[in-house]
Amino acid sequence: MKTVKIAPSILSADFAKMGKEIQSLQACGADLIHCDVMDGVFVNNITFGIKMVEDIRKITDLPLDCHLMIVQPEKYVERFAKAGADIITVHYEACQDNLADVLRLIKSAGARCGVVINPDTPVEKIEDVILLCDMVLVMSVFPGFSGQKFISTVLDKVRKIREIIDASGKEIDLEIDGGINPETVAAAKAAGANIIVAGNAVFKAENRAEMIAKLKA
Ligand code: DX5
Ligand code: ZN
Repeated sequence: MKTVKIAPSILSADFAKMGKEIQSLQACGADLIHCDVMDGVFVNNITFGIKMVEDIRKITDLPLDCHLMIVQPEKYVERFAKAGADIITVHYEACQDNLADVLRLIKSAGARCGVVINPDTPVEKIEDVILLCDMVLVMSVFPGFSGQKFISTVLDKVRKIREIIDASGKEIDLEIDGGINPETVAAAKAAGANIIVAGNAVFKAENRAEMIAKLKA
């Protein structure tokens, strides 16, 4: 199995102490920083945008994994790339027919690109773009809020996408996001996810380093 990486989601961070939170994640063994961008339209919540990514870029070398939960992501992906995003993922549900073009736009802006699917979106909807991606993200909760319960039925999709990736021989990461904790992580890894997002589990832990190590082990 591929080595598993942990991407703590700063949605669960204290936004008034973001610099310290990022430094703490880095010191505790985070492999990437997962930045949840929400616009209040695609999802029922608002978080932060380009300026936050730009400022975080100045204080860490960790890859910034920007999960865009926004409508019309094509309007903003170049600016997120310029702000220092290493990976930009866009929702199938926000792009639909436009998806392949948005993925190419991200690549031409110099970032790695990825597609995200909600828990109720079947793999068939993205089958024709998987091999254009550097990463595929399977949501294991409906996006919008941290601290929700893991939806285990998405594991079938993780397995299916893992098969497609392995059969292609390409280096494509498979990420899972939502409700991951020490109880749910094993099934996610066994299904083939190699990047694990964790918000609440990391930020509510008494010892973040131990939690990250536990999720990775
Ligand atoms: C949900 C976000 C997730 C979420 C993960 O909309 O995309 O990244 O914050 O949080 P937990 O791990 O608490 O479910
Ligand atoms: Zn996310």
